[in-house]
Amino acid sequence: MTEAVTTTRDGEIAIVTIDNPPVNATSFRVREPLHKLLETLAGDSSVVAIVLTCAGRTFVAGADIAEFGKPAQRPDLRDVIATLEAIQKPTVAAIHGTALGGGLELALGCHFRIADREAKLALPEVKLGLLPGAGGTVRLPRLVGPAMALKMIVSGAPVSADEALASGLADAVSESNLVANAVAFARDRAARGVASVPVRDRTGQIVGADLAAFDAEAAELAKKARGLEAPLACAQSVRNAITLPFDEALAAEREMFVKLVSGDQSRAQRHLFFAEREAARAPGIGKEVAPREIRRAGIIGAGTMGGGIAMAFVNGGVPVTLLEMNREALDRGLAMIEKNYAISVSRGSLSEDAKAERMALFSPTTDYADLAECDLIIEAVFEDMAVKKEVFGKLDVVAKPTAVLATNTSYLDVNEIAASTSRPQDVLGLHFFSPANVMKLLEIVRGEKTAPDVLATVLGVAKRIGKVPVVVNVCHGFVGNRMLSARSDDAENLLLEGASPGEIDQVFTGFGWPMGPFQMYDMAGLDIGWRNRKARGQLAVIADRLCEQGRFGQKTGKGFYRYDNGSRTPVPDPEVAQLIEDSARERGIERRAISAEEIIERMLYPMVNEGTKILEEGIAARASDIDIVWTNGYGFPVGKGGPMFWADLEGLPKIVERLEYWHGRSGKDVFLPSALLKRLAAEGRPLSGYIVATG
Ligand code: 3HC
Ligand code: NAI
Repeated sequence: MTEAVTTTRDGEIAIVTIDNPPVNATSFRVREPLHKLLETLAGDSSVVAIVLTCAGRTFVAGADIAEFGKPAQRPDLRDVIATLEAIQKPTVAAIHGTALGGGLELALGCHFRIADREAKLALPEVKLGLLPGAGGTVRLPRLVGPAMALKMIVSGAPVSADEALASGLADAVSESNLVANAVAFARDRAARGVASVPVRDRTGQIVGADLAAFDAEAAELAKKARGLEAPLACAQSVRNAITLPFDEALAAEREMFVKLVSGDQSRAQRHLFFAEREAARAPGIGKEVAPREIRRAGIIGAGTMGGGIAMAFVNGGVPVTLLEMNREALDRGLAMIEKNYAISVSRGSLSEDAKAERMALFSPTTDYADLAECDLIIEAVFEDMAVKKEVFGKLDVVAKPTAVLATNTSYLDVNEIAASTSRPQDVLGLHFFSPANVMKLLEIVRGEKTAPDVLATVLGVAKRIGKVPVVVNVCHGFVGNRMLSARSDDAENLLLEGASPGEIDQVFTGFGWPMGPFQMYDMAGLDIGWRNRKARGQLAVIADRLCEQGRFGQKTGKGFYRYDNGSRTPVPDPEVAQLIEDSARERGIERRAISAEEIIERMLYPMVNEGTKILEEGIAARASDIDIVWTNGYGFPVGKGGPMFWADLEGLPKIVERLEYWHGRSGKDVFLPSALLKRLAAEGRPLSGYIVATG
């Protein structure tokens, strides 16, 4: 292994380079030599200024997340930064790639920061359930002001080099030759004898800061935290930077960091960080499998999903041929796409020029022959096997031999669709989630015959268009919708036995979900499920009755809730309460108070159970893949790490015991614990970390 930290000289300027692939995290192997080196350079009179830079693709992208939860090794990052900050000669951070978390904190320990034109700077610790723990919350407000620091730290979102320059976070932007420019900058500052004021001593932005305005902003952000501790700690810590002396604020920041890092929420979010990266590696698809080149995508169907999927590709810079049945449907789809972009323009997140550029990437058509130039074709037509087969039959004729053919089906058998073509090896499922231009999850459904290079191709495409891919195998509803069915299996009984939609939804939002199941049904529309149930001869007492009354949810202004005057705010409806009571009476069910605990046991435990059945059948490759599906596609709270991670927190033996209890009462299959769940519970082993291949 090469040295993690080296120094070279450009005359009287020392250039310190960190080289710790892949992302130059401040692991112990960086901190120890860096600390020593800085001490040496501080006392070396032949050095007049120091430039701190990184080798490889990025500046330091943070503390080493893999070290969290292990015994701390000194020097820690705070020691390194304190030594750096105390140096009495100009120090300049030369930032390329991403300066994230501990990386940006290290840069804040320098007197100056020069950012490469493409650099991104952020304190994203909040996404790991943490706050910046090496002075970020105390130093950043001193440079950019408390308001911007609060926004950056609570959101974790990056700023560009230009934004960094405008806000005072960066002192210069380098168009090219970053290190040479940083050296010239350092030499100039040293030659001019400019007093280098460390960030800790720059109080201009915080003295006299408007604390009331800050508190109002922090209160707004707190409302969005949904039970997560980290955003609140971030806000408190930035507030401390205004109200407390530097060292006290720093100590308070550390205290909060230590508390958060050992808590369940951060453990859960760190689990998700690594799980997401693991999910992007499909078993059996290594670097030796060369992906096919994707220069143009074809999307069939410009409805809800097709339009969103097309936008996702265009947003990722991939031109799209968009096909519809007729001109009218095509125009409708394009108008919806244009409207969505116009909303982004009105919100200021997209410029008019960027909108025009994106619209220019669409080639609308009604002629299948135009799909011949597409490298990846995704079908998003009606959920009907006959229609899908007809579409794939046409693709069989027009698609180029190297094209990947995908279906966005929610439930249909991908193997059957593949078998309807002459080239099943090129076919797979790409299950996007609505709205497809926003939702991160992409369930990649591997058919029995899907070729390895097809899988490698779509994994690469997913990254290009900003999606989080999870590879799953074929079954009804795949991973997400199959577990969703298990979650709702007993919901109607809960209503009949005494719970209201509002009570159940409140248990869910209290748990951290963005919305409860009944709000979700109303949003998605109750008619789709009703149509499916009728086709299969299935029954859902309450939902069917609502639909018979034309209550299809938000789109008709009434569903499980009422929506007054086109509003999207659900209002409990006495008519629904009456309907539920009547239905219960007709069935001789005596209604009673239902506790939050019971709701969780009867809705979330079956979901966990179904997840373990999915693992038993090898539909998902790892328990952590299921967590990624649920946190990215269905709003499972990240602070609980996904259903499999949460099941361990809850305790597998308890889950088995309660499932058996409810199975005894209802006889329902969803409550029958899987053999895997029972085995892990009996052996005292966790679900998280479970890998199908190794058991
Ligand atoms: N620590 C340890 N490993 C890290 C890491 C980190 N901070 N950041 C990335 N990695 C690893 C990934 O796990 C991955 O490993 P793998 O190849 O074995 O799966 C590898 O680096 C490459 O990462 P990505 O696949 O994510 O590569 P990308 O190029 O897509 O993204 C990145 C690079 C933008 C740097 C992204 O990895 C990222 O966002 N990293 C996390 C940044 C972060 O959260 N930093 C804050 C850490 S907490 C902190 O600093 C606390 C401090 O305040 C004290
Ligand atoms: P939609 O009804 O909004 O859109 C379907 C579009 O396909 C319509 O615009 C229709 O004109 C077009 N179409 C039908 N047959 C066609 C053909 N032969 N050639 C070209 N275009 C044709 O439906 P939606 O919701 O977009 O669903 C599409 C697919 O995506 C379905 O398979 C559905 O199960 C799946 N899906 C839907 C999700 C959702 O939340 N709506 C989520 C994930 C998947």
